[in-house]
Amino acid sequence: MEVNLISDTVTKPSKGMLEAMFSAAVGDDVFKEDPSVNALEEEVASLFGKEVALFFPSGTMTNQTAIKIHTQPGQQLICDQYSHIFHYEGGGVSFNSGVSCRLLEGDRGRISADLIEEAINAPDFYHSPKTALVSLENTTNKGGGAVYDFAEIKKIKALCDQHQLALHLDGARLWNALEVTHESPKDYGAVFDTISLCFSKGLGCPVGSVLVGSKDAIEEALRIRKVFGGGMRQAGYLAAAATYALHHHRADLKEDHKKAKALSDALEASTIVQSVAPVETNIVIFSLKPDQNETEFIHKMREKGILFISLGKGKLRMVTHRDYTDAQHDYVLTTLTQLN
Ligand SMILES: Cc1ncc(COP(=O)(O)O)c(C=O)c1O
Repeated sequence: MEVNLISDTVTKPSKGMLEAMFSAAVGDDVFKEDPSVNALEEEVASLFGKEVALFFPSGTMTNQTAIKIHTQPGQQLICDQYSHIFHYEGGGVSFNSGVSCRLLEGDRGRISADLIEEAINAPDFYHSPKTALVSLENTTNKGGGAVYDFAEIKKIKALCDQHQLALHLDGARLWNALEVTHESPKDYGAVFDTISLCFSKGLGCPVGSVLVGSKDAIEEALRIRKVFGGGMRQAGYLAAAATYALHHHRADLKEDHKKAKALSDALEASTIVQSVAPVETNIVIFSLKPDQNETEFIHKMREKGILFISLGKGKLRMVTHRDYTDAQHDYVLTTLTQLN
């Protein structure tokens, strides 16, 4: 049996999703004439109570576009040290926007208003880069699927307003956070200037992200998306998958969370595991006891057909997803129980 727990991006479209894609009405989206893309954008904008939404090929491009529209070259953004925008977007923050990152030591990828306040450069102190943007990530990827407390987000919003800073959310896995907290997407729409949402993670689409924001922000985003080469033609086939996922896959996320918790419990019980980070959603981060060889362990598990990755610095990661079946789950739990 092969079980892929490397990421929640490894899923293939469900049967219903494929049917929705096959039957999608399409047009040329570069001319804004794709009815399926237009419908998805309208639905997501309205779900988040934002004026407009824009469909993108990737979460990296939505984040990078947001950073570009909120900043000028030479300015600085504030984010957690584990942020995807800093670690895993190829240095796009500096390459695309000429912006530096002020990295904060948050709690599993989450930063607080107090930490942010200390990091804001005084606007009249011209020796330092001007702080322009705060970027949060919810749930956190490298932070192990941690979920923000919305009360803290509201404090961060008040601080951003006070200092005239833009506030962006990398919500690649916001769907997972909402499944846990049962907050409404509109709560999020009300505090963030822009939110990037991915359909290609837990929701199981092959491709697709959406950026929501004000009319002005998204008008600018449309231009930047073009510059980044992200204008797609009959993208409705992909948008139809995202709409299908929105209607049919969201509720399934709680299954992924339940399985992640069970994996965490099995790892906690193992004699070779040193620690498991708290599991709130679908990401499990754990480390082995110092006498264990991490590379050998990954290899041994791979031989048993169980795939996952190392994040470096002794951290191993397993991610549950909708293609991780009950039978696979039983097999992994049994295998973990037999570890020694
Ligand atoms: C938190 C977070 N943001 C953004 C992205 C980027 O998404 P994409 O792979 O679609 O570019 C990812 C991808 O895993 C992610 O985990």
